Amino acid sequence: MSQPYLAHFALKESPFSKEIPDGELWLPSSKQDVVETLITALDEHASVVLVGEPGVGKTCVLRALRHRIPAAGFRLTYCHNATLGRRDFYRQLCHAVGLSPAATAGSLFYALSRHVEERAAERVHPVFLLDEAHLLHQDTLDHLHILLNYAWDSRALLSLILVGLPELRERLSLRRNRSLHSRLHHRLEVAALTPEDTTEYLRMRMERAGCTREVFASDSIVLLHEATTGAMRDLDRLAAAALRETARKKRKLVERDVVSRVIEADTRERDR
Ligand SMILES: Nc1ncnc2c1ncn2[C@@H]1O[C@H](COP(=O)(O)OP(=O)(O)O)[C@@H](O)[C@H]1O
Ligand SMILES: [Mg+2]
Repeated sequence: MSQPYLAHFALKESPFSKEIPDGELWLPSSKQDVVETLITALDEHASVVLVGEPGVGKTCVLRALRHRIPAAGFRLTYCHNATLGRRDFYRQLCHAVGLSPAATAGSLFYALSRHVEERAAERVHPVFLLDEAHLLHQDTLDHLHILLNYAWDSRALLSLILVGLPELRERLSLRRNRSLHSRLHHRLEVAALTPEDTTEYLRMRMERAGCTREVFASDSIVLLHEATTGAMRDLDRLAAAALRETARKKRKLVERDVVSRVIEADTRERDR
């Protein structure tokens, strides 16, 4: 086994890896609600903006949606490189939906619109999921509402789901972006974990990796929760480091002193 701490805690795999199958994602009621609202929105052929701090589980919510949505009726296309000018952005979208990208911006746009109309004719609703959308270039944002316009803006043939950091919401509410903003009917947020969520998340991750006993002492969980302010990506990193350090000390329980040192080392590393 590559990592000695796994044997120490009788784990069959790394408990805090990001490689979780879509169907096994953890959905406490707050995240379940977001997934349900997304499904309702797509059933209505509406568009959505979804924001949240880094690491709170936005992209995983999209994966849970992919798992839940009926495959026959919807075609989800995921794009995560938002740092492109308008033409390259549309070129990327063309690639992602399986079209060979045309040369000019006009023909890219035309190819995409045609693709959307063809899916509608097959009774398949296309959904473009634009992750990291807070990074979208302004010239792309300026144009997105035009991509939503079919048959003189009388048909909802496409849904956009814009996902990003909370500053995305501020950007969209600028006057310049009002044409797009007014077309995003559902405005959702993935909230940070509550202290109870943090406890449940740690337990769930340990259980999935094969360890059913309580490994994190409750005061060490409090520290982890405070340090991560409910962001799971930070929790993954710190919890794994705490497990490694606890195994090195040959202890069975992850205790407050170890977590405190791990957090200090992590902060030092970050501030370097
Ligand atoms: N629903 C979930 N179930 C299990 N783990 C999750 C879940 N949501 C997030 N995570 C963990 O947190 C990490 C960060 O989540 P992610 O969705 O990438 O955050 P964001 O997109 O908000 O930055 C994931 O790699 C995963 O380890
Ligand atoms: Mg993400």
